[in-house]
Order: sequence, then structure tokens, then C-alpha cells
Amino acid sequence: MGRLDGRIAMVTGAASGFGAGIARALAHQGAAVLVTDLDGGGANAIADELRARGLSAEAEAVDITDRASLEQAVVRAEDDFGGLDTLIANAGIGQRPSGILETEPDTLRRQFEVNALGAFLTVQAALPALRRRDPASILLTVSGIALVPRPQLYGYGMAKAAAMYLMKAMASELAPERIRVNGLFPAVGDTPMLAEFVGGALTDAAAGAFASALPLGRLITPEDVGQAAVFLSSPSEAGALTGCALPVDAGRCL
Ligand SMILES: NC(=O)c1ccc[n+]([C@@H]2O[C@H](COP(=O)([O-])OP(=O)(O)OC[C@H]3O[C@@H](n4cnc5c(N)ncnc54)[C@H](O)[C@@H]3O)[C@@H](O)[C@H]2O)c1
Repeated sequence: MGRLDGRIAMVTGAASGFGAGIARALAHQGAAVLVTDLDGGGANAIADELRARGLSAEAEAVDITDRASLEQAVVRAEDDFGGLDTLIANAGIGQRPSGILETEPDTLRRQFEVNALGAFLTVQAALPALRRRDPASILLTVSGIALVPRPQLYGYGMAKAAAMYLMKAMASELAPERIRVNGLFPAVGDTPMLAEFVGGALTDAAAGAFASALPLGRLITPEDVGQAAVFLSSPSEAGALTGCALPVDAGRCL
């Protein structure tokens, strides 16, 4: 018996990093998973891997800044799996660090377009389908930076703070419909995005320095985030949780 048997999920940004970890964890717990990403080939590879293990998965190329592409993916989930009850808005982009005077306005525009507006459009596209199912839930991958700011990541941090607002406001609006909305707040992740945050290639020494700066002395893995996503997506385990900002951060936000 899987913890998500019978559930139908769509995960954005699922070709890589945390999204791939979430797709794998949900599928291993019995959910049918639509693996979506801007990188359609990468999404296909994850779906192929899951099907090769006897799990239920399909893939779709999706750009979260394009509402029509998101709506097409939702139609695909309903056609292939019979509905959509679990949305994971995870896709995002990182940012090279820069001080306030060195940060270009276009950096902020791009960050808001993907990390805030992209999450908003993802929910807008999926909500009609989620409303056809009961229970349904939405999970946003936000970031610990929305809880405890860091210097030199103005665009990324401001857009993630907006995503946190979105998560909490939607939790209030959708609670009367029994649609739960929660957020994962990871810290420094062992994913390709980490190189962007250090401004280039990630050396073992830099990864080690990041890990030792966290209270538990370890980076956050895609498996860590996948397990948290399973819990928050499970109506039987997390049915009373909405508007919850769950740090998956080895203690960074303490
Ligand atoms: N890595 C970290 O340290 C860290 C920490 C906190 C939060 N996060 C958040 O976790 C989420 C996943 O990041 P990750 O670390 O796995 O990064 P990643 O770069 O490994 O994966 C991000 C995925 O999102 C996809 N993507 C980017 N733009 C897209 C778009 N417009 N439409 C659809 N897909 C798009 C990419 O193709 C990629 O596959 C992001 O929202 C990120 O902000 C990451």
C-alpha cells in the first residue's frame, strides 16, 4: 500500500533537482505523476525511469510563464489519468549573487516572472481541475530565503517572498472548498541550481562550506524534499494542514 495510492499529481520543474525528487517520491507512494518541465527531454527521461520501475508517469513540456502551455498539461493529466488532485508548483530559477547597487532591474523582472508569476499562473491553470476533485491540494516550492533573508539575492528572495504570500493567501481563499495549500521551504540544495547561487561552477570545497554552515551539517537532497512533499500531499497524513510553511532546511531558519 502506497501513501498516495489513487492520487493524481502534476509536478513542474520535475526534470531536475527537487522536482525530480518530488516526482520520484510521489510515484513510489502510488500517485500517478505528470512530470513537467521547460526541458521536455529531461521530463521524458524521468517519466521513462518511473515507468521502467512499474510506476505510473507521463511527461509534458511546460513553460510556467505561459498559461496556455500549463493549461495543455492540465488537460493531459485529466485525459491520461482521469483528473488532477495534487499540484506541485516547484519550477524555479536561481540567481547569481550581486549587491543592491549592482543588481539590474531586469534581474528582478525575470525572477518575478518565473518564481512568483510562474507559480501564480501554474495555480490558475490547475485550479478548475483541482475543483473537480475532493480532496485536492496545492504545494509550492518556496525557499527558506522567504523566511530568513540573505544578502545579495534581491530578485530571488523578493520573488520567493511573493510566492510565500501567494501560498498563504490561497490557503485562506481555498480553505472553504477544502483545497489545502502548503509550502516547502528548502535551504541550500544539492541540485544544479546551487552552482548559480555561488556564481559559477560548484567546487567540492564550496559545497562543503555550505553544508557546514547549516546546523545539521548537510545539504538538502531531492529525496528530503520528496519525502516532505509526500507528507504534505497526503490527505490522510496532512489533512489538517493548510497555509503551512515547512522548512526543509537542516536548521537554517532556526
Ligand atoms: N537548490 C536550492 O538551494 C534551493 C533552495 C530553496 C528553494 N529552491 C527552489 O526549489 C525549486 C527547484 O529548484 P532546484 O534546486 O531543484 O533547481 P534545478 O535547477 O535543479 O531545477 C529547476 C527546474 O525548473 C525548470 N524550469 C526553470 N524555468 C522553468 C519554466 N519557465 N517552466 C518550467 N520549468 C522551468 C528547469 O528546467 C529545471 O528542470 C525552485 O523553485 C527553487 O527556487 C532551491
